[in-house]
Amino acid sequence: MNSTRQHGPIKVGLVVGSSRPGRRGPTVAGWVADTAAGHPAARAGEVTVELVDLAEQRLPLLDEPVPARFGDYRHEHTRRWSTVAAACDAFVFVTPEYNSSIPAVLKNAIDYLDAEWRGKPAGVLTYGVRGGGRAAEHLRPILAEVGMAVLPDHVELGLFTDFDWSGADRSDPTAEGRIAPGDGRAEVITAMLTELLAAVRTAGRDAVPAVGR
Ligand SMILES: Cc1cc2nc3c(=O)[nH]c(=O)nc-3n(C[C@H](O)[C@H](O)[C@H](O)COP(=O)(O)O)c2cc1C
Repeated sequence: MNSTRQHGPIKVGLVVGSSRPGRRGPTVAGWVADTAAGHPAARAGEVTVELVDLAEQRLPLLDEPVPARFGDYRHEHTRRWSTVAAACDAFVFVTPEYNSSIPAVLKNAIDYLDAEWRGKPAGVLTYGVRGGGRAAEHLRPILAEVGMAVLPDHVELGLFTDFDWSGADRSDPTAEGRIAPGDGRAEVITAMLTELLAAVRTAGRDAVPAVGR
């Protein structure tokens, strides 16, 4: 596992934390990516933002015999996931609220790895009926447990305040609405990216693997 990236643009992984068919995750993360692309550091080529879609990883429920803290990965799917996460210097976790918490696919993906997270800054964006704040409350200690430096403020998008439902059939449970974040939301994403970049520069880009606990 290579957790050290000292050269080139800072790479921020936008983790799409849901995987069900018809999910809003890629739409929300796409808006974050588009917003981040307008950040001065992105325009200057100092940072790249890449979608890290958990649906594409197709991880089974954790099936590694050795806890991730020991870095002894036995399965190809774990090594593939490790390579994707290790290549990022920081993360923004884009997650819905599912039953007052985060989706199982996101918790599972976090549990698979350890050194790939350790020491890296993380921002959190949640979405849900009322913004998904309870998912953020659960995600924050999980990220701290794997050694991430979590930004103090998270961003929330509400399904009825940051999506446009005009023309949508409200009786259709699969209707998506169109993402239309309210005033100031883009500025908050830009500020989050600025904070992440500052944290990466302060911490350095050499994540410290910790083995055994
Ligand atoms: C299993 C499940 C549980 C949910 N629980 C909540 C919840 O507790 N709070 C909430 O605000 N929204 C809840 N929702 C609504 C989701 O936040 C909303 O459907 C969101 O779009 C789901 O993200 P996704 O489209 O990326 O899967 C739930 C949706 C699902 C599928």
